Parts: sequence; C-alpha cells; structure tokens
Amino acid sequence: MDSSADTGRVSTAILTAAVLLGFAVLQISRQFFDPHSSLDAIPSFGIPSYPFGFYVGSWNFIRNGRAILKQGYLKYRGQPFKVALANQWLVLLSGQRLIEDVRKADDSLSFADAAKVMFQTEYTIGYEQLHDPFQMNVIRTALTRNIAACFPVIREEIAAAFKDLIPAKDEWICVPAMKTILPIVTRVSNRVFIGLLCRDPDYIKLTTQYTLNVSSNAQWLHVTPSFLRPLAARLFGHLEPATRAAMKHLRPILQHRIAMDDKYGPDWPEGDRPNDMISWLLDEARGHPTRRTVRRLTRTLLNINFAASHTTTHGILHALYTLAANLECVQPLREELESVVAAEGWTKQAMDQLVKMDSFLKESSQTAPTGAIGSVRMATKDFSFSDGTMVPAGTLLAVPVFAEHHDEVNYSNAEVFDPFRFSRMREQDGEENKHQMVTPTLEYLSFGLGRHACPGRFFAVNEQKLILSHIIMTYDFKLRDGVDEWIAVLIKANTTAQLMFRKRR
Ligand code: HEM
Repeated sequence: MDSSADTGRVSTAILTAAVLLGFAVLQISRQFFDPHSSLDAIPSFGIPSYPFGFYVGSWNFIRNGRAILKQGYLKYRGQPFKVALANQWLVLLSGQRLIEDVRKADDSLSFADAAKVMFQTEYTIGYEQLHDPFQMNVIRTALTRNIAACFPVIREEIAAAFKDLIPAKDEWICVPAMKTILPIVTRVSNRVFIGLLCRDPDYIKLTTQYTLNVSSNAQWLHVTPSFLRPLAARLFGHLEPATRAAMKHLRPILQHRIAMDDKYGPDWPEGDRPNDMISWLLDEARGHPTRRTVRRLTRTLLNINFAASHTTTHGILHALYTLAANLECVQPLREELESVVAAEGWTKQAMDQLVKMDSFLKESSQTAPTGAIGSVRMATKDFSFSDGTMVPAGTLLAVPVFAEHHDEVNYSNAEVFDPFRFSRMREQDGEENKHQMVTPTLEYLSFGLGRHACPGRFFAVNEQKLILSHIIMTYDFKLRDGVDEWIAVLIKANTTAQLMFRKRR
C-alpha cells in the first residue's frame, strides 16, 4: 500500500473538514450577529453570558431542549423569549394572546418557509413538493370525506396486519412495540393510499425509512453552508435513492391508473375505479400535466407517508404505554365500545360516538404531543404581535406546546394523567360536541393551529380509535416487566419498549 498517497488523502480530508467547519461557524456567527435579524428586545433564555455563550446555549438546547423550554416558559409565560438553535434564534410564543396572534396570522407567518429551514424541505422532500404541495387539498377534502366509505377496508387491513404481526395466542407473546406498531400503522394508512400494495413489507420499510431520513438529512443539511447544500444533498441525500426505490414498486400501478384516468377520467366502465388516494390525487392533478407523472406521484405519496406514519404511530404507542400503565381504563373503554358497536355496527359514526376513547386518546396526545414545540412559523415580513413585540422578516417562531399542555393555567391537575377529563366535560349541557380530539384550541395544540392545523387529523383520529378498538377487543396486553419506568419519557415514543399480548380472556 502507498503510505504517502494515504497520508495525502487523510490531509485532504482533514483540510476539507476544516474548511466546512469554518464555513459552518461563519454561517452560525452571521445568523447571531447579523444586525438586520437582531432580536435584542426579546429576552434570550439558556444562553451563558460569557463570550460565544450562544454556542454552548445551542448545544445545550440540542441535548436538553424540553427542560430549557419549560424553564423559559415558567419565567416568561405570556411573553416572547428566544433560545439558540444550531444556527439561528427561535422565538417562543406562549399564552393565549400570542398564540391567538399566530393562529390568526396570514402568510406573513409562513409554515412552508419554516419547514424549509427546519426540515430543509427543498432537499429532503423535493423542490416541486415544496412549491406545489397539491396533496394538501386532497388530504383536507377527499381523504377526510371518504373516511366513512373507506372504513370497511381500514378495519379489514387492521385485522389482517395484527393477525400477521401479533397473532392472538393463549400464552403471552412479547413484541418490540415500535418495530411492530409502525409497520402496522403504515400498512393500514397505505391501504387507503395505494390499495393492497400496502402488504408489501419492502414498500412499507422504505416509506418508514424515508420519514426517518427526512429528519436526519435535515439535521446535517441545516449546518452545511447553504451554497454547498445542493451538491451535498445530491451526493449524500436520501431523496433520489428513495424516489427510485419507491418507483420500482409504484410504477406499474401508477402507470395503469394514469392511463385509465387519461382514457376515462373519474368514470371508469363498470364504475370500478378504486376509491383511494391515487384516484383523489389524479382528480386534483387533472389539467396539471406536471403532477400526473409516476415520479411526481411517487414523491407525493412518500411525502404523505412522511406526514402520516410516524405521527400516528407515536400517538398509538403513547396511548398503549399509557393504557398499560393504567389498566383500570380498559374496562370502561371496552364497555363503551361494545355498547356503541351494538347500536351502530362497526362504522365511522360508531367511532365518532366513542366519547371516552376520544378523551383517553386526547389526554394521551395532550401529555405527549409530537414535540416540545409546535406550530413553527417563519416571518416572511416584519411582523408585530398584539403586545407590541416586533420580529423582523426571517425570524423563526414556535409555540412551546409541551409546556402549555402541562400548565395549570390551561388544565387543572395538568401533570396528572386524567383519562376521562374531556369526556366528563362533554357531559355538561351544551358541551356534548366540544372538547374533541380533532378540534384544535389555544390550549390543545397537538395538531397545531389555524390554517395549517393538521389536515390529516380526522383520518388519524379515526385510525387510532379503530386500532385501539381492535386491540382492546382482541387482546389482553401489558408492558413487559421492568420497562415501564420510561413511560415518563413523553416526547418521543420509546423505541425499545416491548409490549406483551395474549388472546383476550
Ligand atoms: C396523530 C397523528 C398526527 C399528528 C399528531 C399530526 C400533527 C401535525 C401537526 C402538529 C402539524 C403542524 C400544524 C401547525 O404547524 O400548526 C401537522 C401538519 C400536517 N399534517 Fe399532520 N399529524 C398527524 C397525522 C397526519 C396524517 C395521517 C396526515 C395525512 C394523511 C397528516 C398530514 C399533515 C399535513 C399535510 C400537514 C401540513 C399542513 C400544512 O402545511 O398546512 N398528518 N400535523
């Protein structure tokens, strides 16, 4: 082996790393020192006062963000404060008044621009998705409208997926919770998105991996100098390989569906057009040739999965962990389910009437929302809040959801898990249809708020209810001995936990 060539390669690698690090530091410093993005009037939190303390502050935030947010929230509740991210400030807005300002804001507080920074969406989900996310309207309208019509296939797929992955046996069997529930949820959602191809384990694996890759790629792209990002994303990014891998599965079905749509539009002979996401996307894409390609539809389906799979899985996992820790809730949930299904059958209307289950799932998502922050926005122009605070264009803003959800001001005994908190509220006259899981409020922020509140929430809640119903009717279950101490880890569903199931007795 030629040792001088090796030494040369190592030196080049070190030099390249040093140059990249230098650019990253310059970029970070520019963000913090840029006089145009100065946010001096807003107090900072978690930043040591010594020179360059913000580097330490941003490192601490990466390691311990939830605790820092909670302390900052307690100090500045109702007023804006800021924390250091890897390369810019994040301004936190708490209290009803400021959250209402975020809710009401038009495009001057942009969800897409914030996602562009936080998720590096231009490189992680694709340029065309960023500029023409036409699935948004499909999720909001067609998907939501068709929940009742798709209910039987959703139920069928839940039963089939659980049978495959958690067969109901007389003796206890132990399954890794995340590794089992994630493919089940993804498979069930994809039954509605793409039909029976949802049963292909390779397709399910690549779509779930895609979501993880969007997040991990976003992190390293975030600290890569902006002028290098296009090249770095092309060389090392996940988007192109994931698109090609997914196209291998989807190409035959998409080609067929595009051809049929070109020939017949929505009215196929015999009326046998599948009622699924592909059809709804093609409806929305009619008259837009660039949306009607295999590649574009593949990326769109990947990105619908990005929004749908892990979020719904985390919700179900938290609910299961919580139920396993509060087994006395199982009986009231079963009784409610049995009486509603006896009257209504297995239908969407029945799911809508599960007031106790809705309360249980809402409380579970309230104590463990998908993140410590939510409703992240970027100011597209200088923006004034109703308390007079002004933030310049380019400022990144968010609501400290976790701290809000655990504040006594919003909920009595906020730190105590109270499964039927919301169903009790609904027993009051005039309150019957309020306090539902699908209804975002200024205190309940798990699905975000305002115009960008999650458009998939009706589908997600219905799916969660049906999955939980299937579990409590089919199995007895518990957490494997000795692992329930991590229930307190609320933000991210525990990925190593094991759940135990046996046929219901
Ligand atoms: C329990 C499961 C889910 C949770 C907790 C959740 C949560 C959220 C949250 C917090 C947001 C951001 C809202 C904001 O910034 O104000 C969001 C946005 C979004 N969600 Fe969900 N989501 C879930 C399931 C789904 C599903 C199943 C779909 C699709 C089928 C979906 C599609 C979307 C889309 C497309 C957006 C972006 C909305 C926009 O840009 O206006 N979500 N979701």
